[in-house]
Amino acid sequence: MGTGPLTGVKACVFDAYGTLFDTASAARRCADEVGDQAGPLAALWREKQLAYTWLRAVQGRHADFWQVTGDALDFALETLGIDRPGLRERLMELYLTLESYPEVPEVLRRLRAAGLRTAILSNGTPRMLEALVAGAGLQGQFDALLSVEQAGVYKPDARVYQLALDTLGLPARAISFQSSNGWDAYGASAFGMQVVWCNRAGQRPERLPGAPDRVVATLAALPALVGA
Ligand code: LAC
Repeated sequence: MGTGPLTGVKACVFDAYGTLFDTASAARRCADEVGDQAGPLAALWREKQLAYTWLRAVQGRHADFWQVTGDALDFALETLGIDRPGLRERLMELYLTLESYPEVPEVLRRLRAAGLRTAILSNGTPRMLEALVAGAGLQGQFDALLSVEQAGVYKPDARVYQLALDTLGLPARAISFQSSNGWDAYGASAFGMQVVWCNRAGQRPERLPGAPDRVVATLAALPALVGA
């Protein structure tokens, strides 16, 4: 793990869920219905959602992130014994407009003002990503919204990270990839990108291939790392 600015970065590519957008905000906004189960629901929903992406990738049985997210929600609601009419639909709808983290708009503005290109590279479907960006008022802040649907497989498959290189026309080392998901940060690093692990949860290091170049607590630290 180094310190100081990264060199040679031409584009900043961001993970979406957990990095730019708060996945727990959907359940939190339903606290009127689920009360103190909002936290456990958000955690189990997310855990199962990611597990299903990895399992489907290994099985070669891709289904898009909207379906996987709904399947994981069904599992979580049933496991926690939450059964309220209309709640599933309400949570799925809220998943399209998750809250962005507070520093995100200003960070994007600074990166772009410095002439860096920006993109999202996410498991989300194009429709989900467009809705997230619009809901957070971030239209026009990205050169590309890249979905794994173009690769037909989930992160951390190398074909997903390759999408960013192909779309931006840049080598891996010219891209700074930001993710709060440790396994995604390590995956992009093993692929060859420069990586800033936005370790919002203060998680311990992964024992996986890859070595993120920098670790930050929020994205607010990013512009200084890439000269913006
Ligand atoms: C994504 C998940 C990994 O946005 O957070 O791709």
